[in-house]
Amino acid sequence: MTDIDVLVLGAGAAGLMCAIEAGKRGLSVLVIDHAKRPAEKIRISGGGRCNFTNLHTTPANFLSQNPRFCVSALKRYTPQHFLKLVEAHRIPWHEKTLGQLFCDNAAMDIIHMLLREAEAAGVKLWMETSFTAVSKPDDRFSVATSRGALRTRALVVATGGPSIPKMGATGIGYEIAKQFGLAVVQPRPALVPLTFSDDNKILCTKLAGVSVDAVVSFGKTRFREGLLFTHRGLSGPSVLQISSYWREGQPITVDLLPQTDVFAALKAGKTSHGKQDVRTALAGLLPKRLAEELSAAHGFGGRLADQPDKVLQRTGSAINSWQLLPAGTEGYRTAEVTLGGVDTTALSSRSMEANDVPGLYFIGEVVDVTGHLGGFNFQWAWASGHAAGQAV
Ligand code: FDA
Repeated sequence: MTDIDVLVLGAGAAGLMCAIEAGKRGLSVLVIDHAKRPAEKIRISGGGRCNFTNLHTTPANFLSQNPRFCVSALKRYTPQHFLKLVEAHRIPWHEKTLGQLFCDNAAMDIIHMLLREAEAAGVKLWMETSFTAVSKPDDRFSVATSRGALRTRALVVATGGPSIPKMGATGIGYEIAKQFGLAVVQPRPALVPLTFSDDNKILCTKLAGVSVDAVVSFGKTRFREGLLFTHRGLSGPSVLQISSYWREGQPITVDLLPQTDVFAALKAGKTSHGKQDVRTALAGLLPKRLAEELSAAHGFGGRLADQPDKVLQRTGSAINSWQLLPAGTEGYRTAEVTLGGVDTTALSSRSMEANDVPGLYFIGEVVDVTGHLGGFNFQWAWASGHAAGQAV
């Protein structure tokens, strides 16, 4: 029986950060993970360059049933703290856009940095180790693993969410929470492409590969970023962002040309270029393929001078406020994160410890705190991992 101070389940971003902080405090720390290699999601993140934080992180960048829960941890471990670590390891980085910081070279730089820090802090790491049962028979936890039984004073659950199951992601953290009487906010795939089953699916398929700057809205929530047509529907940053807010059976609105009032532009064209075809006018505003397919789908065409204002208005609306009803999402198979998770009302926002189960901690994506696209999810992993690492 191995007896340790801190056992971390999951060698991802949050688990490693927590282990490093706890190890630095002189505690004996073991991290176990069933995957072959640690932090696989860091490796594939940000297109292989890891968008490791966002300089403009605020609580408003996170979704949770309790939007204030993340405040304390984010305040105590900021993007600048992580950046200082990155710079101490001489990892070259750059700001891409909107405060998003990426590695110049590869995401592996971040993984190597975390592993070096963990080693320096005396953290032990057991990969390809599964656990079968967790219990708390007395004031310590017992965990049955494929490498034998473990006893620990503090058990940190950092097993993430079920997004991208082929990488070893599971919902085991929710099971542990429920076992100890903690509520779980219904998880759902987030930051995920939207799919369509109506005529819009045909349109999207025809336009697969076309991308535009767009504003995508759901209710009062709107994001202006890239939009990408795919064979199954819509993707790109603006659509991934809105997917975290979208709910089944409700439409989203897309502005395919946010910088232009299309009705006003066509009306002006009616006076200045009356002989021009509507399709030609649209091809001057939008990517050619998009203008053609939208015109075909909506029956736009004919000389501008011959178009009643009502028709031009309809044409403008189809581009500036296109309403679409998604059939669903691509699901956990491609979702970058999981919305929902361990209910924050059961946790301390300072330490991430379960209020009613001393020594049990939940950090990272397994908790009901989900960031926008743009480095916010890693910032939550670092901040919540740091908070627990200081408290265990
Ligand atoms: P994470 O999932 O990283 O780690 C959980 C660990 O637990 C894994 O190592 C897993 O193997 C292990 N585990 C799970 N079940 C287990 C079990 N039953 N037994 C043992 N071990 C188990 N975010 C961001 O801020 N910037 C970005 O650029 C990106 N890019 C990105 C791209 C893609 C393709 C994806 C899928 C996700 C992103 N993200 C992102 C999101 C980010 O990767 C995610 O929010 C963090 O990895 C969450 O960190 P955690 O440590 O909580 O879980």
